[in-house]
Amino acid sequence: MTNHSPPTLEFSAYRLSHLPRPLKIMLTGVLILLSGGLAAAVGHHYYAYRNADADPSLSYEDLRIALTGDFPPVPDTSVETTLLWQQVHGEMKQYLPRRNDFAIINAWLLRGHAEATYDWPWTIVGDRAVPAQALNAPPGQAPVATQGAVRKSPAEIFGESCVPCHNPGGERSNSPLTGYAAVSQYLTHPDPPPTRPVTTVAQVTRIAHAHWLTLPVLALLLAGFFYFADWPPGSPAGRAAITVLPVACLIVDAAGGWLALTIAPLAVVTVAARVGFLLTVAIQIVGTLGGIWQAQDSQKASA
Ligand code: HEC
Repeated sequence: MTNHSPPTLEFSAYRLSHLPRPLKIMLTGVLILLSGGLAAAVGHHYYAYRNADADPSLSYEDLRIALTGDFPPVPDTSVETTLLWQQVHGEMKQYLPRRNDFAIINAWLLRGHAEATYDWPWTIVGDRAVPAQALNAPPGQAPVATQGAVRKSPAEIFGESCVPCHNPGGERSNSPLTGYAAVSQYLTHPDPPPTRPVTTVAQVTRIAHAHWLTLPVLALLLAGFFYFADWPPGSPAGRAAITVLPVACLIVDAAGGWLALTIAPLAVVTVAARVGFLLTVAIQIVGTLGGIWQAQDSQKASA
């Protein structure tokens, strides 16, 4: 019927090592990029989830929390838990004997202890301390009278009341309070608050559409190449298993990921499937590269 000449090789005998060199080089480049993508996927798990349990290293617990939405309680990071607040309200309160000074420091701390308002003059309105700038009334509104009122910045108060001891040459040379940077060291919390990975249906749907439309295509192509790479030679059962496993892991991962939101124990299955996908795809990439570049002679010997 047609005058096409028949292929010189049977389909089942075709191997990646028969590809012309440019295709081999191109495929190798694709596989190197894919390996980078896999490493980035691991890196993404590290950065996105490592702090889900408020401990900065990545563990199963982080992934379990991310998959189930079973978040730990957020630790109290309010200003009241900082060392500066506790000292100002405790032993160091004696060094702020003037009510207004104490009120200004207190209000500065409660209003977020911003660097911008550290040098601002603050004033007392009624029994509240407020940044004096805040009293510059917007157009059309009567300005609040501040004549005769206190005008003092947190910087001045720390300088007068605390720096005499808390300075590099003073009694508390180890804890200077000589500027905003020094003061704010006593306003930090030892541990960063835990991150809260996405677990709402809308967010999981967004991630699913990107993953389910790309990963199966990747699995299909890689498995096809791996199967025809025929490397390492001589283990058909192993090759068959590695060909099928990534897509099987993807299905378990996808289903488990959704179900774990309501059936928490499925998180372990999902994590195992994700690790399985990673390992088997890595084997496929190595096998494909080996198949592309194996010598034609060893091919014939094993055939
Ligand atoms: C007369 C000296 C003196 C003054 C003035 C003083 N402190 Fe202290 N401060 C100390 C000493 C002494 C300690 C150590 C107390 C302890 O370990 O029980 C300390 C401890 C602290 C600490 C804990 C860190 C550390 O060095 O152990 C902070 C924070 C602190 N002071 C803040 C302040 C603030 C804010 C002021 C001003 C309102 C102030 N201090 C004024 C002597 C002073």
